[in-house]
Amino acid sequence: MTLLEVRNLDVTYPSGAAAVRGVDLLLAAGQKLGIAGESGCGKSTLALALLRLLPTGTRVGGEVLLDGEDILTMRWGQVRAVRWAGASIVFQGAMHSLNPVHRVGDQISEPVLLHRKATPAAAKQQAGELLEHVGLPVARAAAYPHELSGGQRQRVMIAMALACAPRLIIADEPTTALDVMIQAQILRLIEQLVAEQNLGLIMISHDLAVLADTCDRLAVMYAGRVVEEGPAREVHEGARHPYAKALSAAFPRIGDRASRFTPRGLAGDPPDPAALPSGCAFHPRCPVALDSCAVDDQALRVAGPGRRAACVHVSATVPGPTTEDARNGT
Ligand SMILES: Nc1ncnc2c1ncn2[C@@H]1O[C@H](COP(=O)(O)OP(=O)(O)OP(=O)(O)O)[C@@H](O)[C@H]1O
Ligand code: SF4
Ligand SMILES: [Mg+2]
Repeated sequence: MTLLEVRNLDVTYPSGAAAVRGVDLLLAAGQKLGIAGESGCGKSTLALALLRLLPTGTRVGGEVLLDGEDILTMRWGQVRAVRWAGASIVFQGAMHSLNPVHRVGDQISEPVLLHRKATPAAAKQQAGELLEHVGLPVARAAAYPHELSGGQRQRVMIAMALACAPRLIIADEPTTALDVMIQAQILRLIEQLVAEQNLGLIMISHDLAVLADTCDRLAVMYAGRVVEEGPAREVHEGARHPYAKALSAAFPRIGDRASRFTPRGLAGDPPDPAALPSGCAFHPRCPVALDSCAVDDQALRVAGPGRRAACVHVSATVPGPTTEDARNGT
């Protein structure tokens, strides 16, 4: 059953930055959706928009349906209830946002006390259980954040996100600041929790390889748009959109020796969302752009079973574009 449906979501900051443009997403309970893209492509803005956490004055259009109810038109009382019991965000850089002067156990029990109306003893017990659930001993409840490692603090943040039993977890770069071993442990923990509790997960990262390894489906964003979307491994290993291809090449599979010889990265910078290029926003950097790409924007179209991509070269039957196609003007 559909847990979250995002329809035609637009976000424009008061500065005029069109950070999210016409994004559609679908997520079922128990499903893991990865959102990838370069810095500044709108990933965090999208996450914040889902729970109406954007600064005042930001223009937001479209629909964000959680269990069929539009969060964007809810009264604030309902939005607050959704934030506690419906959906939780593990924020980008959240490891540093724990309160340094409170013991971590108290920080986990606080939402349980406030929003689940538990007694202090019951909330304390639940905090202990949550810590155990994320692989920390109950005794660590008495620790202050500075007494924990980065990985342990991230586990605490995940325990806090789980405290009110949400149905949807949005994890914005949950492992970026961690070393590779700890990153793998946290990713497996998130996967295990999603499976056990039938949660929906939206995981945001610039690292396509990590998302392909963890998620069922993958959406690649460029300049506020989803430019490719489909089964995670298929998108990572056989991207159809030229930007998604370049991103895949920049984040090759671990252990893939051939990938070391693949050109890495992309020339140029992502565009300023307050002054986007005309036509397809990727055209100034695209190795296979046609003259028409400077004029015509492309909507997402079917690019194979369960796959969509937004590029003039893409159709359901024809493989993705090559540089030769562009030279030939096809
Ligand atoms: N509060 C804000 N006011 C104005 N513009 C903003 C604000 N927050 C973000 N932006 C702009 O919106 C665009 C998208 O930013 P966002 O933080 O969503 O990107 P991101 O994909 O999460 O990047 P990163 O990978 O670096 O976290 C950027 O151009 C950014 O400068
Ligand atoms: S539409 Fe044109 S510019 Fe955009 S990705 Fe496709 S070929 Fe490149
Ligand atoms: Mg971000």
